[in-house]
Order: sequence, then structure tokens, then C-alpha cells
Amino acid sequence: MITPPPSDVLIIGGGIAGLSLALRVADRARVTILTKEALTEGASLYAQGGVAAVLNGEEDSFDSHIQDTLNAGAGLCHPDTVEFVVRRGPAAIRWLIERGVHFSRETQPGGQEYHLTREGGHSHRRVIHAADATGRAVETTLETLVRKHPNITLCESHIAIDLITSQKLGRPEPMRCLGVYALNKATGHIHAYSSRFVVLATGGACKTYLYTTNPDTSTGDGIAMAWRAGCRVANMEFVQFHPTCLYHPRAKSFLISEAVRGEGGRLTLPNGTPFMQDHDARGELAPRDIVARAIDYEMKRGGLDYIHLDISHKPADFVKAHFPTIYERCRQYGYDITREPIPVVPAAHYTCGGIMTDLGARTDLDRLYAIGECSFTGLHGANRLASNSLLECLVFAQSAAEDILKSLPTTAAPADGLPPWDESRVTDPDEQVVVAHNWDELRRGMWSYVGIVRTTKRMQRAQHRVDLLKEEVREYYSNFKVTNDLIELRNLLLVAELTIRSALARRESRGLHFTRDYPQTLPGPAQDTVLTPPPFEDSALRANA
Ligand code: FAD
Ligand code: SIN
Repeated sequence: MITPPPSDVLIIGGGIAGLSLALRVADRARVTILTKEALTEGASLYAQGGVAAVLNGEEDSFDSHIQDTLNAGAGLCHPDTVEFVVRRGPAAIRWLIERGVHFSRETQPGGQEYHLTREGGHSHRRVIHAADATGRAVETTLETLVRKHPNITLCESHIAIDLITSQKLGRPEPMRCLGVYALNKATGHIHAYSSRFVVLATGGACKTYLYTTNPDTSTGDGIAMAWRAGCRVANMEFVQFHPTCLYHPRAKSFLISEAVRGEGGRLTLPNGTPFMQDHDARGELAPRDIVARAIDYEMKRGGLDYIHLDISHKPADFVKAHFPTIYERCRQYGYDITREPIPVVPAAHYTCGGIMTDLGARTDLDRLYAIGECSFTGLHGANRLASNSLLECLVFAQSAAEDILKSLPTTAAPADGLPPWDESRVTDPDEQVVVAHNWDELRRGMWSYVGIVRTTKRMQRAQHRVDLLKEEVREYYSNFKVTNDLIELRNLLLVAELTIRSALARRESRGLHFTRDYPQTLPGPAQDTVLTPPPFEDSALRANA
């Protein structure tokens, strides 16, 4: 087996966080990017609404964006992080424009201007976008640049299994990250990748839920790997449910952007009755937690399978111009959004918690960084403000790049002699059905017991199931060769456990976490839910283990 060449910066993940970091460091460092599917497959590609940033200084202001973020975050945002991100927003957008991203424009009396849309919780129009396919426009522009950069090596269809640390190898040196083991899915070989710095940019974990807007890549791998390597995670109970996912038996996780409501779309019961004003004075543009909970309430109250989202009162040309992707996709499913309402339901959308980092994206483990949705920076608090996620990806990719480039000249060369993965005590998996069945059981359980409205009893029930599944998978993992699905299931179970533990620990309702047993928000300063891994929680290393 050929040993992969060492790199300066090993990035796990090819979403907007990973690719923008790669481009920011590649002129001065050798970069390797691992992605478990094709390079662009991940949540970034499907982002619709846009990126929030203060771009119209005459009407909008940093203070206003900061305040909206803090309000949505329900007392749990870290004000220093919010200020850091919001103030770096305009430069991050300029960086994208300079790299060739075409955002939507509109004609104004003074000439062409970027069109800014509006989403829930924003008090101004400040979301820059490329029609309703912003993620695709950004991701594919960055992809083109990454693919032709001479210092970037791409390893697609390589799934990272676990981080390699000096401690796990028993090396007598300060605890640090040395690299990662990854499975090449095309050959079935597992290689050790050595690097001066490792960056987790693996995205979120919403595949723990049965219904989600997320692609299959969102299995929380980075969060699980960091935890097993000794890093703290925080606020995992705050899972954001997007209010409007298309309800159709054939539409696997198709999001209907919040920008549809931003541009006037209305939510009604299937009989046409509006209901949002009964729940919040901001109506359709209340923050996401409130809208999702209102829909959940109305669906349960009326025994409904879905509610309606209606933008058909707007001129057809306007709707088609602003939402071409949504218009076309709905048409394929038999709905004409310019003429009729469409059925929608809430679905798990975003992981607000994650691996704890500082403003330089540094984790608890030396030489390990985390950026994008897998990280916890303190920006989102108890509920992320719409379109602040792509902004966070861009801003923290930049700050990680700054930190890495500053430290590069004084950092030791990549470690050599990393032990190969040990497969001497495992055989080929005998029953793949175990993995498929357990995966399904986990996702159904999380949806039913740890969803939009929670109770202690339901969460305890979920915890019990997850404990049993974890034990089964641990045994399977010890005896059989790893596969993509087994790696993901093992990670999903760990992330589910962390989510439930965090949710049970929070004895109040706040932002996205609503429990009937503690419906009130506690007075006084709010606390993050910080979980610290026990030493060698789940020693993952097969190599010489
Ligand atoms: P991702 O884009 O998810 O990329 C993760 C990468 O990690 C992938 O390349 C994946 O293959 C790789 N990976 C994961 N695990 C491994 C492993 N073990 N080994 C190797 N590679 C691995 N946010 C906004 O701000 N605005 C929006 O308009 C918006 N719209 C959205 C619409 C949809 C449908 C969805 C699902 C999300 C949306 N979000 C939006 C949220 C936002 O898109 C994501 O939070 C963001 O794109 C995450 O980017 P990322 O780079 O952190 O991860
Ligand atoms: C959307 O377009 O509704 C998604 C925006 C987001 O998740 O921030």
C-alpha cells in the first residue's frame, strides 16, 4: 500500500468552510482535502437563501445584525463571537465576489445593485444570494479554483475514521493531533494521513433524525472524531428544525427557502386559515424556532400531515425569477407555486452545537481546528439566525487560515512513522442488515423522542435505545472490517448520545430546546451545556490497539 505524502494542512471536508480555508492557505502550504463523497457533496451545495452580512450601510448596521443574532440566540450567543463574525461579514462577501461568485443583482435608480433578501429574525434586508441556489454558486466557484491549485491534493471518496494523536500512540510528547486514518472507498484500503495541522470541516449531524433537509453526508463524523480525541463539545441540544421542507413522498429532503416567506409567502392550514399571527406578532418572519414550533402545534392540534406555504399571490414572473430552483423542483412534483399553495412540514436542518473552538478556530487539541457546522463558536446560541451559517463558515475559515499561516514557520514537520491500521483481528462483515436496521431505528427514535417538543420521559427512552444500539455497534466494530455505513452509524450514535445528554441536562426551555417538563426559561445568565469526554472514551484506534 502506498503511504500518502504528508501535508502541512489536512482538511477533512469539502463544503464552503473546507474549500475556502484551502484557498486561503494553499499559496503558502501543501494542502490535502479528504471528502467522503464527491468533492462538492455536502450541505453547502444545497444552501438556498444566502449569506447574511451588512452590505447596505445606509439602512442597515453592524449593531442591528448583532442585535438580531443575539435575539434569535435567546441569551446564549457569545457576544464577542457575534461581533467578530458580523464585523468580518462584508469582507468575507467581497472575498467571494473577487473569486468570481455571481450574486443576484437588481436594477436601482443609481444602476445595478446586489439584491438583498430577507429571512426570519432579520430586521433588515441583508441576505445576499444567487437566486435560490446560493450554496451551489459559491461551492462550484470555489471547486473550480481548488481543482486547479497546484498545492492542493484532492482525495474524494475517502472517509476519515479517526484522528491520530500523540497520546493515542503513547508517544512521549505533548498531546497533539498528528493526522487521521481514512478509508479509501474505491480500494477499500485504510491509510494514515500525516499533517502538521488537521482541520475538521465535516458539517453537521442532522442525519440523526428521520426527516431532515440535510444530505447524506451530515452524520456528525467530525464531532464524534473530535470527542474521541478528547475535545469538548457544547450545546448539542440545540438542533434547528427548518419550518418548511416540501411534503411529498418522492421529495427526499427538499427545502423550501425561508426567503419565500421573506418575499411575502404565507403559512396557512390546509383549509386556508392563516395561523402565524396567533403565535407571534412577527408572523411568518418570526425566528425559526418559533415558526417550527407553531407549525408542530397546529399539525398536532388538527391531526394534520402538513400545512401550506403560499406565494401564489405574487406575480408569477417575480416568483420564477427569485425562486427558479424551487419553482422547477415543485413543478416536477406536480405543484405550480405561482398558482397554488404547497404542502410543507418542519425537518431537522442545522446542528447549532459542536466542537468547542476559540476565535482562531482552535479546538482543545493542539494542531486540530474545527470550522463550519461541526464547530461550536458561540455565534448561534440557542437558535441560529437564518443565513448566519455560511457567514460563520467563511469567517472562521479565514481566522483558521490566519492562525495556521502564522504558526506554520515554527511548527514541527508532519510526524513520520504513523502505524498502519491494524486489521489482523477483524473479518469481513457478515450481516450488513444490522447496520441498516440500527441506523433506521436510531433516526426514528430521535425524531419521535428528541424532536421539536421534548419531555424527560421521551428523552430517557431515546437514551436507553441509543445505549443498546451503541453496545451492538461497538461489538460489530470490534469484530468486522469497517465500511462507510458502519463508520457513519458509529458516529451518529455517539452524536445522538451527546444530543440527548445535553438535552436532559438543560432544565429549562430556551430557543430550539423546548421541553414540556421545564417550559419556562430560567432567569439570570444563561449557561452553555459543555460536555467533556472521559480519557479514551472509546479508543478508536485499530492501529496497534
Ligand atoms: P458541509 O457543506 O456539510 O460539508 C461537509 C463536508 O465534509 C463534505 O464534503 C463531506 O463529504 C465531508 N465529510 C463529512 N464527514 C467526513 C468524513 N468522515 N471524512 C471525509 N469527509 C467528510 N445556511 C446559510 O447560511 N444560508 C442558507 O441559505 C442555507 N441554506 C441551507 C439549505 C439546506 C438545504 C441545508 C441543508 C442547509 C442550509 N444552510 C444554510 C446551512 C449551511 O448550508 C450549512 O451549515 C453549511 O453549508 C455547512 O458547511 P460546512 O462546510 O461546514 O459543511
Ligand atoms: C433557507 O434558505 O431557508 C435556509 C437558510 C438557512 O438555513 O440559513
